[in-house]
Amino acid sequence: MVRLLLCGCAGKMGAAVRSFVNEREDCQITAGVDIFGGDLEFPVYKNIAEVTESVDVVVDFSHPSALFPILDYCRAHPGTAAVLCTTGYTPEQTEEVKSAAQELPVFYSRNMSLGINLLMELAKKAEAVLGVDFDVEIVEAHHNQKIDAPSGTALMLADAVNEVRGNNMKYTYDRHSQRKKRERSQLGIHSIRGGTIVGEHQVIFAGRHEVISLSHSAQSKELFAAGAVNAAVFMAGRKAGLYDMSHLIEDKKD
Ligand SMILES: NC(=O)c1ccc[n+]([C@@H]2O[C@H](COP(=O)([O-])OP(=O)(O)OC[C@H]3O[C@@H](n4cnc5c(N)ncnc54)[C@H](O)[C@@H]3O)[C@@H](O)[C@H]2O)c1
Repeated sequence: MVRLLLCGCAGKMGAAVRSFVNEREDCQITAGVDIFGGDLEFPVYKNIAEVTESVDVVVDFSHPSALFPILDYCRAHPGTAAVLCTTGYTPEQTEEVKSAAQELPVFYSRNMSLGINLLMELAKKAEAVLGVDFDVEIVEAHHNQKIDAPSGTALMLADAVNEVRGNNMKYTYDRHSQRKKRERSQLGIHSIRGGTIVGEHQVIFAGRHEVISLSHSAQSKELFAAGAVNAAVFMAGRKAGLYDMSHLIEDKKD
C-alpha cells in the first residue's frame, strides 16, 4: 500500500485526487497539507514541516510557493518521492526541481494527462516534417479561476516544438503593442480564460495554402487526478532522478 501525503488537499484537484484514491486499493492518503487547513478523512496540516505520519510519496496540487518546503521535506525524509503537478513555477523554481532530482526521486509534469503527452509527441513529429515553412501558434483555454497564463501545458507543448526547431524560437505572448509582420522565428502562445473550461490546447501549423491543427480537450479534472495517482504509485521506492509522463508511458508498455 503506497502512502501519500497530499499537498493542496482542500483544493479542486485535491478533491479529485481524494475521490480517485478512494476507488483504489494500492494506495491511501495518509495525511494532507493545505494552508487553509481542512476537516477531512485524514490529518491535515497547514505546514508540511509539521507532518508526523510516515509517507512514501508527496503529491502536490497546490501553489508554486509550496515547492521549496516540499523539497525540504523530502530531503529530511530520505526515500520519499515527490510528484509535482503544480504549474506556474518561475524559471528559478524549475531549475531547483531539476537540481533536487539529482538527490531525490522527483516526478514533474505540467500536464498529467496521457492524451496531452501524446499530443506533444504528435506536435514534435509535425514540426520535424513541416519545419520552418510553417508558422506555429498555440492556443489554450481554461476556466476563469486559473491564476497562471499561459498554461504550463501550453509552455510544455511550445518547448517540445522549439526543441525540434533547435531551441531558437521566440515565444510571443502578446502582439497588441507591436505593429510589424510576424517573424518566422516566432512561436505565438495565446490564452483564453472563461467559465468552467477544464482545459483546451490547440497547436496550429500554418503554411502556405494549408493549416494543420492538433488539439486536445480535457473533459474533467479526473483525468489529471488519475495521472497523478498513477505517477505516485509508480514513484514509490524509485531511486533519485527526474521522471515524467514518458517514463510512466514506457512502464505501461512493459
Ligand atoms: N499538472 C497537471 O496536470 C495539473 C492539472 C490541474 C491543475 N494543475 C495545477 O495544480 C494546482 C492546483 O490547482 P487547483 O485547481 O486544485 O487549485 P485550487 O486553488 O482549487 O487548490 C489549491 C489548494 O492549494 C492550497 N495551497 C495554496 N498554497 C499552498 C501552500 N503553500 N501549501 C499548501 N497548500 C497550499 C490552497 O489553500 C488550495 O486549497 C495549480 O497550479 C494548477 O494549475 C496541474
